[in-house]
Amino acid sequence: MANKATSNYRIIVLISGNGTNLQALINDAPKSGFTIDLVISNKADAYGLKRAKKHQIPCKILESQLFNSQEDFDHALTVILDEKNPQLIVLAGFMRILGKKFVRHFHGRIVNIHPSLLPKYPGINTYQRALDAEDRTHGATVHFVTEELDGGPIIAQQSVEISPYETTETLAEKTLKIEHALYPEVVNLFASGRLKMTDGKVMLDKEIVSPKKGRFD
Ligand code: GRF
Repeated sequence: MANKATSNYRIIVLISGNGTNLQALINDAPKSGFTIDLVISNKADAYGLKRAKKHQIPCKILESQLFNSQEDFDHALTVILDEKNPQLIVLAGFMRILGKKFVRHFHGRIVNIHPSLLPKYPGINTYQRALDAEDRTHGATVHFVTEELDGGPIIAQQSVEISPYETTETLAEKTLKIEHALYPEVVNLFASGRLKMTDGKVMLDKEIVSPKKGRFD
């Protein structure tokens, strides 16, 4: 199905790989209140680019390895984003750390989805770390992006149970499944004007969000 062109809440999605979260957003957009204006990948071979093209969503490739420095890459990305001026920049499996200047420039407009119940397990290998620690639950977090890696204000979380026979593969599968419901739901809340960051706090309908117990309850 083509991207809905009538919605005026415009997002740009940044990817590096498979793009299953991007696909979830693409699937949700026609019945929701947002439009994916552009997909940017820092990898030319990211499968997510194929997903976007299939739905006639414009794509740009900004190969991070072709830039001499983090500053140069961030600057090139800033120019593209400023030109398009999206309401929200949605990181969906974007495997590149963004510099402080970049993050400050887009303060309150960048969100990320992370495969753990933050603040537990920022960074990579979250499934293995949860299994090594013999955790009983794992999950996913949507958060604002700030200068601290995976450390910005938490918008929403959802957990999954870890079974005694869990492997990193089965845990990844379970976690991705909840991500695919959670991320479009959060973007929709932004699109409807219900969600924002005020003074470093996440506000939903003018109440401070406490994601600890589940999605938004
Ligand atoms: C997801 O697990 C997400 O939480 C993390 O990177 C993975 C991206 O998967 N940030 P995909 O590219 O959306 O399939």
